Amino acid sequence: MVAKTSDVKILAIESSCDETAAAVVVDGRDVRSNVIFSQIALHTVYGGVVPEIASRKHIEKINQVITQALEGAHMTLGDIDAVAVTYGPGLVGALLVGVAEAKAIAYAAKLPLIGVHHIEGHISANYIENKELEPPFLCLVVSGGHTHLVKVQDYGRYEILGRTRDDAAGEAFDKVARAIGLGYPGGPKIEKVSGEGNALAIPFPKPKVADGSYDFSFSGLKSAVLNYLNGARMKGEEIVQADVAASFQHSVIEVLVQNAMRAVDEFGVDRFAIAGGVASNQTLRSAMEEACNKKGVAFYHPSPVLCTDNAAMIGAAAYYEYLAGRRDGLDLNAVPNLKLGER
Ligand code: KG4
Ligand code: ZN
Repeated sequence: MVAKTSDVKILAIESSCDETAAAVVVDGRDVRSNVIFSQIALHTVYGGVVPEIASRKHIEKINQVITQALEGAHMTLGDIDAVAVTYGPGLVGALLVGVAEAKAIAYAAKLPLIGVHHIEGHISANYIENKELEPPFLCLVVSGGHTHLVKVQDYGRYEILGRTRDDAAGEAFDKVARAIGLGYPGGPKIEKVSGEGNALAIPFPKPKVADGSYDFSFSGLKSAVLNYLNGARMKGEEIVQADVAASFQHSVIEVLVQNAMRAVDEFGVDRFAIAGGVASNQTLRSAMEEACNKKGVAFYHPSPVLCTDNAAMIGAAAYYEYLAGRRDGLDLNAVPNLKLGER
């Protein structure tokens, strides 16, 4: 049987970290439902995601979230053409819940199964609200686990130009937030207090890797913030939380923008996108947009709810995998350190 190419209804599942999510997406860009159960409140008391707790909560919530996604789309499994699921990278116990669930549904409802790379999902979130966006373009993926500068050559074809050598951008936000007493998750909290601070108050370093590559390094910046805090405490100086937050955020954004624009120049692309949880940061978006405008490059970004983990983005990526004829067997397994472009 030849697979259809339009009106393809995909049920997508995402459980790689601390969001239990399911969505129904038609033809990759038409989101009929997007249900997200965020576990953030559960993990906040521990200051970060506790893998064991995440897995257990996924098990508790996954059926309910899938039922809601189907109901929200006014569909039953009988209407669905394929089941897609994030199978890596992520927390192995968390990924396994989604993968086992997707396999069970695929088997019971006799549906094709498509394993999706989480980062491919983040990148594909851009297709949902930007119907005209097509590869090739450059994409900066900035999340809690990843900082990748990616050349999207075609659907499903990626070249990683640069990546972080230590902390991911979101991880740096989370660690600095903890150090200045803001708690988890740090990104949104730093963004909020930064609004009341002076971004030029403290000249934190803007770390560049020495070899001229497109790689990033954020651990030095994080250490600089910690050193500043220790120094100020020892000298009895007042620490202005909002100024520390704003100055740190300013440094991260400057590094991200500079590196990204260097790649835009070198590769002569006319489209640039951002993705991942940190991409919901309005100051980062504005800075990227301004830099892109100066170069006459079109700038794309998903809405905040599609930047952080969700299943609609997995459904968007899965559609193009589906069109390319990629299917997985019931032996699909979670791959916690899955590389982009590897299948
Ligand atoms: O993409 P995501 O939901 O999960 C991963 O795949 O990692 O990203 C979560 C990360 C966290 O580190 C969080 O602090 C950061 O994205 N984040 C932000 C903002 N919202 C979330 N960072 C900066 N500004 C924000 N507004
Ligand atoms: Zn993510």
